[in-house]
Amino acid sequence: MTSPDLRTLPKAELHLHIEGTLEPELAFTLAARNGVTLPFADVDDLRRRYDFEDLQSFLDLYYACMVVLRTEQDFTDLAVAYLERAATDGVRHVEMFFDPQVHAANGVPVDVVIDGLRAGLDVGRERFRITGGLIVCIVRDHPVASAEALLDEIAPRAHELLGIGLDSAEVGYPPSLFEGVFRRAAELGLRRVAHAGEEAPAAYVWEALRLLDVERVDHGIRSVDDPELLAHLAEHRVALTVCPLSNVRLRAVPELSAHPLRELVDAGVVVTINSDDPSYFGGYIGDNYAAAASLGFDTAELAHLAANSIEASFADAGRKADLV
Ligand code: HPA
Ligand code: ZN
Repeated sequence: MTSPDLRTLPKAELHLHIEGTLEPELAFTLAARNGVTLPFADVDDLRRRYDFEDLQSFLDLYYACMVVLRTEQDFTDLAVAYLERAATDGVRHVEMFFDPQVHAANGVPVDVVIDGLRAGLDVGRERFRITGGLIVCIVRDHPVASAEALLDEIAPRAHELLGIGLDSAEVGYPPSLFEGVFRRAAELGLRRVAHAGEEAPAAYVWEALRLLDVERVDHGIRSVDDPELLAHLAEHRVALTVCPLSNVRLRAVPELSAHPLRELVDAGVVVTINSDDPSYFGGYIGDNYAAAASLGFDTAELAHLAANSIEASFADAGRKADLV
C-alpha cells in the first residue's frame, strides 16, 4: 500500500501503455460486448498467467488480450478507467502510449483508436483535472515499412498527437532501424521518445539519442553500465522513465533490491517513476513510488522524482507551473 502523501504528491505519468491498463475484469466485459472469445477460461485463469519470464513472455499475453479492444467506446472506457485510478495516485498529467499497428492487425483503424482515446482524455480533463496527450508507439518487431505506412496514416492528424515512441521486443530491433521514421515524425512536429536499455544494452540508448534524437528514454536502466552515458544523460537533462515493478516482473532486474534506481539518481540523471503496464505488473504509479520508498528513497527524494516527472513532461510551461 502507498502512504497518503505519496499518493497525493502531484505527478506526471510519462511511461504508460494504455493497453497495459486493461484489467482482466474489463477484458472479459469487452470480450462479451464485442462477441470475442478470449483463450482463457475466466478472470482467475487469466490472472494466473501473469507470471512472466521476460519481456517477450509478457508481450505474448499483452497482445493476446488486446483483441477485445474493438470500438471507439472500448478505448474511451479503457482510458477513463485508467484516469479514474490515476487520479487517486495524484497523477495530474499523463502522456499515454498506444500501439496502432497491433490494433490494425485486429481490424481496428487507427482513427478509431485515436478518437476513442482522445474522448477518454477529454473526460479525464473535465472529471479528474488530468491533462495529457497521446504518444503513438512504433512496434519495433513489425517491418519498418509498416511503421512508415502508419506515419502516412497519422500525418493528417499529427497535431492531435503529442509524440512518437518505440516499443515491443527490444533485443535484435535496434533504434537504428527507425532513423528515417523518427526523422519524418520530427518533421510532422511530433516529440520523440523510445524504449531503450530495458533488456538490451546501453548501446541501444546511445543509438536512440544519436539516431532518433529522442528527448526522453523509456526504461533506460542499462545506462547504469556506461559511465559516459550516465554523464551525457545528466548533462543534457535527458530524463529516464523508469518503471521499477515492471523491471522486477519482466526480470530485467533479478529482484527489487537489485534495481539500479539509486545509482541512476546518484549519477545526476533526471529519473521519473512510472507504471508501464500496471494491470500486468502488480501496481499502478503509487505502488511504483512505494517500491522506490522501499529502496530507501525518503519523502523529500520522492517529491524530487515527482517534480522531475513534471519537468520532463511535454506539457507547456504554463501547465507545468500549475502542476508543481
Ligand atoms: N517494453 C516494451 N514494449 C512494451 C512494454 C515494455 O515494457 N510494455 C508494453 N509494450
Ligand atoms: Zn513500456
